[in-house]
Formats: sequence, C-alpha cells, structure tokens
Amino acid sequence: MADDQPTPTEASSQHALTVSLRVARYNPEAGDKKPHVETYNLDGCHPMDRVLDLLIRVKGEQSGSLAYRRSCAHGICGSDAMVINGKNRLACKTLVRDLGSAISVEPLKGLAVKKDLIVDMEPFFESYKSVMPYQVTSQPPTGKERLQSPADQAKIDDQSKCIMCAACTTSCPSFWANDKFVGPAAVVQASRFLFDTRDEGNAERLTVLNDYTGVWRCRTIFNCVEACPQGIDITKHIGNVKKAILYGTTDFLEGEEDHSGHGH
Ligand code: SF4
Ligand code: FES
Repeated sequence: MADDQPTPTEASSQHALTVSLRVARYNPEAGDKKPHVETYNLDGCHPMDRVLDLLIRVKGEQSGSLAYRRSCAHGICGSDAMVINGKNRLACKTLVRDLGSAISVEPLKGLAVKKDLIVDMEPFFESYKSVMPYQVTSQPPTGKERLQSPADQAKIDDQSKCIMCAACTTSCPSFWANDKFVGPAAVVQASRFLFDTRDEGNAERLTVLNDYTGVWRCRTIFNCVEACPQGIDITKHIGNVKKAILYGTTDFLEGEEDHSGHGH
C-alpha cells in the first residue's frame, strides 16, 4: 500500500459519524401507560450501517431491554418492518447513508404495541388467513409439482414476492380508520391465488373480498406501494381483484402484458 493511501482502519474512521437514534419505548409490563421517546447517541457509525445495526448496538451497549423483531437481517423474513423517519421500512434494508445522522424509529401504526417496536401481528395474520392464501383444487394429488406455463406463472410472480412484513397494511389510512379492513397485504395474497390458473377457490375468496371489510375499502391512496420493500405493484393487484369481482371472472388477465417492471 502506498504511504499516502489510508489504511482500511483510517479509511473507515474518515467516514465515522455519530448518529442520534430516537426510539419509541413502551413497556406496559413495567407500568408504562403510553410510549415515550429515548435518544441514544452512537459514535463510530458508518454510512453503510443499517438501522438494524444501530438497534443491535443500542441493545448491546446501552439498553438491553430494547425489544424489536428481526430474523434474517437480509430483507427476506419481513419481521423488522417499522416506522423509520416517518416512513414504513425494513430496518435491515435501510441505510444510515439515506437517513442522515438524526434517525427516529417507531412501531408500525394501526396494530397494538406489545413492547417498544414489537406490534401484535395476530390481527394482520387473521386477515391474511381470511382470504384463503392457499391453493384450492378438486384434482387428486399428483405426487409432484403442479406445473403451469411461464405465461400463467407471470400472472402471479409479482404477488409471490410478498414477505408479509405488514409495511403496506400499516401505512394505509383505510386500515387505520377501520382495522377490520383486510388490508393491502391480504389482497395481494388473495390475488396470488385468484390469478393462479391451477386454483379453484375463487368463488369463496371473492365473496370474502367483496364483503364490507374487503377490497372496496381501498381508496387508492398509494401509501402501500411506497411502503412495500419488495417493490410490488400493490394497487395494480387491488385493481385486478376489484375487476375480478365486477366481471365475475379472472380471465381478463389473458394476454395482458406484465407492466410491473420486475423480471421473472
Ligand atoms: S405487499 Fe409488500 S409491504 Fe405488503 S406485506 Fe407484502 S412485502 Fe410487505
Ligand atoms: S430481519 Fe428479515 S426482513 Fe429484516
């Protein structure tokens, strides 16, 4: 290495910054009646640190009682969605570089907070279950995969990317106004099976979605699309589910091009 080149340690310290992390804390078991904000100053942060890295540091260095969910740490499991600087995002996919040195984290809105950044996901999963997110078929088991054409698979590729993080549903004002609304995530999951040409459960599924807590509560506000870490074209799928109810069929997708911009 040339004398005037910084060593890796020097290079990294040149980027080091102090981050002020404001965290909504709430522990009902300790007698908290409502959430309050705690601020943690973290020295030696790097622009490429993720918000999840900051939370891990706070828990390890400053407050062992801090509660949050994480599992994969790579944007796959969907367990660490939270409100970061006012927007729903995954803590493991959000970099300090894109937020600056003042960062706030809060739990998802519209679901009861159990502790700190952990919300009760049960109502979210109940809505998910209500739309029958599984294949319904009268065909006998084949002992292997039920194959379909690439064109048919393309109709459900985008929806299949959903990681059930709840970022969309908890950014939706219609859900905040009425938590019985199944929400965008459940509609995306319903669409995954409604437009699966191997499925035979559409009549029952569309009845659920046509109910007063179903898809018509969507007012096309688009918060969900902005919040989705998977880039799923949620409002397109919601629109297609509405069309399926009105037309009484899902055949209208035949020959439609995929405008989602996502590869297959
Ligand atoms: S559609 Fe996107 S935001 Fe909604 S649950 Fe699935 S991955 Fe998360
Ligand atoms: S920890 Fe799995 S998506 Fe972030």
